Amino acid sequence: MTESVLVTGGAGFIGSNFIHRWLATEGTPVVVLDALTYAGVKKNLDGTDERRLAFVHGDVNDGELVARIFEEHAPRAVVHFAAESHVDRSIVAPDAFIRTNINGTFTLLRGALAYFRQRGGDGFRFLHVSTDEVYGSLGPKDAAFTELTAYAPNSPYSASKAASDHLVRAYYHTYGLPTLITNCSNNYGPFQFPEKLIPLMVLNALEGKPLPIYGDGMNVRDWLYVGDHCDAIRTVLAKGRPGNTYNIGGKSEMANLEVVQTVCALLDELRPAAGGRKYSSLIAYVKDRPGHDRRYAIDASKISGELGWEPRETFQSGIRKTIGWYLDNPAWIALVRSGEYRQWIATQYQSSHSQESS
Ligand code: NAD
Ligand code: DAU
Repeated sequence: MTESVLVTGGAGFIGSNFIHRWLATEGTPVVVLDALTYAGVKKNLDGTDERRLAFVHGDVNDGELVARIFEEHAPRAVVHFAAESHVDRSIVAPDAFIRTNINGTFTLLRGALAYFRQRGGDGFRFLHVSTDEVYGSLGPKDAAFTELTAYAPNSPYSASKAASDHLVRAYYHTYGLPTLITNCSNNYGPFQFPEKLIPLMVLNALEGKPLPIYGDGMNVRDWLYVGDHCDAIRTVLAKGRPGNTYNIGGKSEMANLEVVQTVCALLDELRPAAGGRKYSSLIAYVKDRPGHDRRYAIDASKISGELGWEPRETFQSGIRKTIGWYLDNPAWIALVRSGEYRQWIATQYQSSHSQESS
């Protein structure tokens, strides 16, 4: 039996980018386990080598299915992306975050441990993909998050991811499961679901709709091009030390307003609006996100020093590629804007939320 790599959440944004890059550069086949929630798009995997890709439509909470996948596909590694990932949704409806992010990770860990033991503890790795949000919020002058920063999650999303990180850590320390955890910053790039800041702004701008900025627009995130993130994950999977955590960042700290203005300026250049109107005229300040973390920043010196990974894209180069991809893929945009998507946008951005516009 050929060994494989099990990728959960492989039909989502980062998972699908990871699989495209993996199959283009590595020999090992991939098995995907994905529940195809609103954020999972099977078409994201079109164009990959089908002979080396097995797709299982199912839930990480399904312990029997998880056990069967381990038995049938004998993966040499798990890369665990599957999660509910949108902070705003976690504020409106946290239940699914607890179920998938905490219980689902637990079910997967339990299945992985049984398989690891049955395999005789030989050459297996479990890589858990997590987030910088578990470290909480920074002030403007605070030092960036290191792997030793104490956890202080502030949203139901980040709390659920923090809980899952703790379970992963416990499975290493208690049972010796060879786990790795990566905590990365805000990804952007092709296939990102348009509920997240950058694709939402691109799509709204193209339709002449308001560009909703929460609060004063001065919340800071570190932006990481998804391709760089996927390369970092492959690096950690190949060379990371079991039981360790690695922070991954893009060296691109920016305030939200600056990000949106950059998107607008690029759209002005690549797809000028009718009548010479500047896209930035659509910027609208709306009610802030409850508990909105002010700043995230990543100190990625551990992965860079130990494993030699560095991001290749600057924000300027990555955002140009990203906007180019959205402009070139109207069929994908139409596909993901389902009834569910429209309903989310209508509820989240009701006109009463708008405070002022410029
Ligand atoms: P996404 O929302 O685009 O995709 C999530 C995928 O998981 C979807 O394909 C969905 O169908 C699948 N899924 C959800 N619940 C499932 C379940 N119960 N069983 C099986 N599959 C299920 O998410 P993303 O942005 O690609 O993020 C992937 C991972 O990276 C997540 O764990 C997220 O917490 C983490 N992360 C994301 C970012 C980011 O900026 N997007 C940054 C840091 C960490
Ligand atoms: O930091 C890593 C995290 O980045 C990941 O763990 C999450 O899965 C991912 O969704 C992302 O979380 P954020 O909340 O930072 O991303 P989002 O794109 O939702 O928002 C980015 C910033 O933009 C944030 O400060 C909120 C703001 N924002 C967002 C939306 C959707 C707006 O101002 N307006 C909006 O309409």
